Amino acid sequence: MSFSIRWKVTLGTLLAIMLGLVVAGGLAFRSIEQLELARAEEALAARTGLAALALQPLLDRSPPPLDRLQTQARELGLQANARVTVIDQDGLVLADSALSDDAIPALANHRMRPEIASALATGRGTDIRQSDTTGQRLFYLAMRVIPPGTHAISIVRLAMPLTTLESRIRDLQQALGIAFGVAFAVSVLLSFFIARGLTRPLSEIAVVARQLAGGSFERRIPAASNDEVGVLATTLNQMADQLDHDITALRRLETVRKDFVANVSHELRTPLTSIKGYVEALLDGAKDHPEEATRFLQIILKQSDRLNLILEDLLQLSQIESGRVQFRQEPVGLRSVVERTLASIKPLAEKKKHTLSVAIPPDLPPVSGDEDRLVQVLTNLLDNAVKYTPEGGAIHVTARPVREDETVELTVADTGIGIPDTDRPRVFERFYRVDKARSREMGGTGLGLAIVKHIVEGHGGQVWVERNDPSGSRFIIRLPALKDLRETAQPSRDTTA
Ligand SMILES: Nc1ncnc2c1ncn2[C@@H]1O[C@H](COP(=O)(O)OP(=O)(O)OP(=O)(O)O)[C@@H](O)[C@H]1O
Ligand SMILES: [Mg+2]
Repeated sequence: MSFSIRWKVTLGTLLAIMLGLVVAGGLAFRSIEQLELARAEEALAARTGLAALALQPLLDRSPPPLDRLQTQARELGLQANARVTVIDQDGLVLADSALSDDAIPALANHRMRPEIASALATGRGTDIRQSDTTGQRLFYLAMRVIPPGTHAISIVRLAMPLTTLESRIRDLQQALGIAFGVAFAVSVLLSFFIARGLTRPLSEIAVVARQLAGGSFERRIPAASNDEVGVLATTLNQMADQLDHDITALRRLETVRKDFVANVSHELRTPLTSIKGYVEALLDGAKDHPEEATRFLQIILKQSDRLNLILEDLLQLSQIESGRVQFRQEPVGLRSVVERTLASIKPLAEKKKHTLSVAIPPDLPPVSGDEDRLVQVLTNLLDNAVKYTPEGGAIHVTARPVREDETVELTVADTGIGIPDTDRPRVFERFYRVDKARSREMGGTGLGLAIVKHIVEGHGGQVWVERNDPSGSRFIIRLPALKDLRETAQPSRDTTA
């Protein structure tokens, strides 16, 4: 049988409290008894002293008058509410308030009674025992009396029944017992609640930990104290957050991978099907019609080029992704990157009658990287801008330092068809195209932006896309700058095509 930690704590505390109460109770019971006995002894001693004083004149005579002694003893016994006994130094009883006159000579010698022996030796003695004479349990106190002028020593002894004393002690002990009982009951309640307070967060932690182990990451432990349990809870919550993110990321990766395989197959199948179709048509007789054959072969060539392009892009992407491509790390001026890119893009832009403008501040710090790769990035962005902007649009390339020259920002804005809000976060995924048919018609495979993203991130930068005002898209790249190596000042130049 296994106890929960709550019961272990409760029972442990109770056991400790119970032990404490038993020990304290035992000590208290004993000291109550001793205290009461000491008080009784003091009271009895005072009365014995007074009795001795009253009996002294009779004891002073030699021999003492026994009948008067007996009368006096009886009188004193009544007043002191005790049994009064007078004994001579040899242990013979001279008078006893509890007995009749004729019973006294028959009494045994009292010399060896503990209280008498010690009174003879030290002046005072006490004892508690059952009386041979009366059968009661009595508290005896004996005192030595040496009257002036005589050498005869006598003992005056008072005896008090213990019944009242004992019942008083019992009452006190009973009250103490009740108090301890109440204390115990209170501690049962307290330890139960304290244990619950202490262990409830632990139970919650146990529940959440079990769920985590079972693979569900939704539940969190409510924020508790700042003690060790609180730290444990926070740590577990953080772990759950982390796992949750990791698992989500893994699942997303898995979907991306599946999509990728499906997309690659599809992308490759389209041109292949087309090639196969035209080759079959040629074999079926089209080869005998030179004009038709040439047209078919041209289509086959175009589709082969397209296949080639897709494969090249894929190869490049997988090389970048696998980290096999090491980007050079040299100071690169973005002005040079922009100029090189524009040289190849300009003819395309001119063909679609776009206005192409550039604004780069003269003291822009260079970035560290691979100029050829950065040209590729800008080429892909400008290629898209030209492609996805209807004729006569405007394309604007700007660069500027941000965050106190820590970073350089490169922006490509167009006035084109723009990207819907829902597609914007996904355009950097491989093969993702907003309008598949239209993009394919333009020769796109949906790999351009995936390559852009990998190159930029490989340079320690970021890339994202925003809506352009009033229309079109704005792609933004941020790259870490080489602050100390500023471009040599050149007047800002705007290029127009
Ligand atoms: N400037 C832009 N304006 C509007 N849509 C864009 C722009 N740039 C990219 N897109 C959208 O994002 C998609 C992905 O772009 P990406 O460059 O990755 O692929 P692609 O241009 O279709 O093909 P590729 O560049 O591989 O030849 C495009 O298909 C298009 O839908
Ligand atoms: Mg593209």
